[in-house]
Amino acid sequence: MVLRPFEDADVPMVQDLSTDPYVPLIGTLPSRCDAPEALAYMERQRLRHPDGTGFSFAIADTGTGHALGMIGLWLRELASGRAQIGYAVAPRARGRGAGSDALRAVVGFAWTLPQLHRLELHVEPWNMPSVAVAHRAGFEYEGTLRSYREIGGVRRDLDAYALIRTAPPDTVGPPETGMPTVITDGRPTSAP
Ligand SMILES: CC(C)(COP(=O)(O)OP(=O)(O)OC[C@H]1O[C@@H](n2cnc3c(N)ncnc32)[C@H](O)[C@@H]1OP(=O)(O)O)[C@@H](O)C(=O)NCCC(=O)NCCS
Repeated sequence: MVLRPFEDADVPMVQDLSTDPYVPLIGTLPSRCDAPEALAYMERQRLRHPDGTGFSFAIADTGTGHALGMIGLWLRELASGRAQIGYAVAPRARGRGAGSDALRAVVGFAWTLPQLHRLELHVEPWNMPSVAVAHRAGFEYEGTLRSYREIGGVRRDLDAYALIRTAPPDTVGPPETGMPTVITDGRPTSAP
């Protein structure tokens, strides 16, 4: 598994992702999108880093390079030492560890940002696959944020999970410009 920037060839994965009933409710991906909508979604992901929102990576198979899903590291609160993570794996690629591998990799990468002290995930209580992925990456449940966010037109409770920095910052940081590629242990490897 590798985290890399989105490529236009990822359209089929993005279209598969858009068939999930939940994913379009929590992001900007239109439900059952066509190819132009998938390309526009990927362009928005590529702009997350230059516009200062964070890093939005495609999760890809190391051997084939085929995209399996997406994971975002959102950095709007970086100055306060906090970041949030969101992820989704295409329905066809689920249940084979991609979500867990991607979360562990993005956590490793996140700790290369010296300002960061706290990583946060918000998960709906019914979302057991996401809870399993969070636990596997070491996130701990902190409590329920009641009526925290509107999703699909309904105010929803979200469970807060977090991971706290326990080690000093890595000496290998991400590039100052461009998107890195991140390998399974979270190390940034290149800046295309
Ligand atoms: C959450 C998601 C990213 C997981 O991706 P994935 O690649 O299938 O994840 P993994 O294969 O690494 O792990 C899935 C885990 O969920 C568990 N799981 C799956 N269905 C489950 C269920 N109904 N109840 C309990 N656990 C379940 C699996 O057993 C596995 O855990 P395990 O390996 O410890 O047994 C994927 O389901 C998804 O994209 N969902 C829609 C978007 C979403 O909810 N994103 C998260 C928002 S907080």
